[in-house]
Amino acid sequence: MRLDKFLCDMQLGTRSQVREIIKKGLVSVNETIVRHPDFKLDEGKDTVTYMGNALTYKTLYYYMLHKPSGVVTATKDNHEPTVMELLPDAEGKDLFPVGRLDKDTEGLLLITNDGDLAHKLLSPRKHVPKTYYVECNGELSKDSIVQLESGVDIGDAELTLPAKVKRISQSEHSYTIELTIVEGRFHQVKRMIQAIGGTVNYLKRVSMGNLSLDAALPKGSYRPLTEQEIFELKQFL
Ligand code: URA
Repeated sequence: MRLDKFLCDMQLGTRSQVREIIKKGLVSVNETIVRHPDFKLDEGKDTVTYMGNALTYKTLYYYMLHKPSGVVTATKDNHEPTVMELLPDAEGKDLFPVGRLDKDTEGLLLITNDGDLAHKLLSPRKHVPKTYYVECNGELSKDSIVQLESGVDIGDAELTLPAKVKRISQSEHSYTIELTIVEGRFHQVKRMIQAIGGTVNYLKRVSMGNLSLDAALPKGSYRPLTEQEIFELKQFL
């Protein structure tokens, strides 16, 4: 990468401003002052300093999106609006959603270009917990909670892995729970509720691994993860 592009990417100024900074001798690469804006550097290896302060080139970006209903979890779609259209100004090349929420599901969706982190979060071997707030029609018996918590037959070769159920409210023909699952099978929550004789009316993901949906983030909005959130998400794996 050219030195002037590196500095622009680091938001030190416009292309012409950073050229001036370079020509004034304020920038060093590996402790040697460089006065040529077209100097080529390896942003992964070389140490660039501006007025003595080291600059770390940031290429990986992490965002929390509060997905609304009505958008599909895809980077491109010819017919439907996608979650990526909700982040028009997000910095970072090749961003993508980590995992998939159904079109009518709301809640926490991690958007990043960190393929390694995404791969680990989605790996079936990692058993990353995902918690959903689920409003259902049907009856929630003690037996159906035991079934969800021990594994249910949703029509796949294997029963689901044990989930955790937290009852939030219940009436005769409907109930609301928080369901934590450690897999990511297709329509898994809806199929689990179906397996105990109910139907899902509303589904929202509230957490994934150590990352929880920010209660102050309006539906349809996004924000960058904090350094602490990124750290905690990585610690988890
Ligand atoms: N389970 C579902 O059924 N749908 C989702 O969107 C996520 C989990």
